[in-house]
Amino acid sequence: MLTKKIGIDLGTSTVLVYVKGEGVVLNEPALMATDEKGARVLAVGRAASELLGRGGKTRAIRPVLAGDGVDYNAAGVMLQHLIGRIVGRQRIFRPDVMLSVAPMVTGVERRTVLEATMQAGAKTAYLIDKPMAAAIGARVSVATTDGILVVNLGAGSTDLAAIAHGEMLAIDSIRIGGDALDRAIEAALDRRHRQTLGPGEAERLKLEIGSATPSAAATWLDVAAGEGATHPLRVTAAEVQQAIQEPLATIAASLQRLLAQVPDARRAAVQRNGAVLTGGGAQLRGIAEYLAARAGIPVRVARDPQSCVAVGTGMALDNLQVIRRGQHYIT
Ligand SMILES: Nc1ncnc2c1ncn2[C@@H]1O[C@H](COP(=O)(O)OP(=O)(O)OP(=O)(O)O)[C@@H](O)[C@H]1O
Ligand SMILES: [Mg+2]
Repeated sequence: MLTKKIGIDLGTSTVLVYVKGEGVVLNEPALMATDEKGARVLAVGRAASELLGRGGKTRAIRPVLAGDGVDYNAAGVMLQHLIGRIVGRQRIFRPDVMLSVAPMVTGVERRTVLEATMQAGAKTAYLIDKPMAAAIGARVSVATTDGILVVNLGAGSTDLAAIAHGEMLAIDSIRIGGDALDRAIEAALDRRHRQTLGPGEAERLKLEIGSATPSAAATWLDVAAGEGATHPLRVTAAEVQQAIQEPLATIAASLQRLLAQVPDARRAAVQRNGAVLTGGGAQLRGIAEYLAARAGIPVRVARDPQSCVAVGTGMALDNLQVIRRGQHYIT
């Protein structure tokens, strides 16, 4: 197979690349390091995070920002680099590239993303809506399902859709994701202990002892406190669980809103098939039980949830009817 088929999930925190026949071949921070002026790209992905970690005269650029959408120039440079890594510098056999985008991204922005992907070296560029890709990657039979919800819990955002017979019936997207959970943990500990946390420690608390629902075991973790601190801070699982209740409630509200938007004819099917959770945040303990209780529908976590969007994006290249009309660009 000379023309490679590549699916790319460029997220807020992570970028994954799926190559047909090979699987997920790249999973790195969605990050670039430039010189101080931001003029020259020095490193991309994992190499960028290592370079930035060493300090010095560098600047961090994230192509996808939770609050401000996509920096299309930066995204173009990043795509060019990633495609180059997959197909090599010679561009004789340019790849077919499918990129996932948030459903809220406008027509003009979609055009820009497609053009950037073409400039980055694609032979054909296609876009797919993130929740549709997530559902395909979660092995939902999107073409035949009579109604199911998919909730992709990312770092910067949560993207939701109701899908039936190959179409999205309703969508929702909120700028609350894993990052917001980390910020909520930081804020709660600051209020309670008058103490900031060291970099990355809020996320570590979430990953190691975090849970959406109260846990029976009384666990705790000692984490590095922020500037000026002389001792580590002992944090209990109960504190973490309480700290994240507010952003979790926002996510639950968005799921309820989506459910309310499902057309009457599909409601019974959706209530029966429930919701499937994808994205890194789907790995939070208790999240399925938590959302099931609030939405009143069955909820399950997809297998390997963090890869679903990338895998589904790549799989969609063999299944082009799942992309919206006009969402591709060929030379
Ligand atoms: N075991 C875990 N428990 C809770 N959260 C987790 C776990 N593992 C990863 N996460 C969180 O998942 C998020 C990353 O997920 P993902 O890679 O799907 O996001 P992304 O695609 O970069 O972001 P987005 O889709 O919003 O642009 C981070 O916030 C991370 O802390
Ligand atoms: Mg994502």
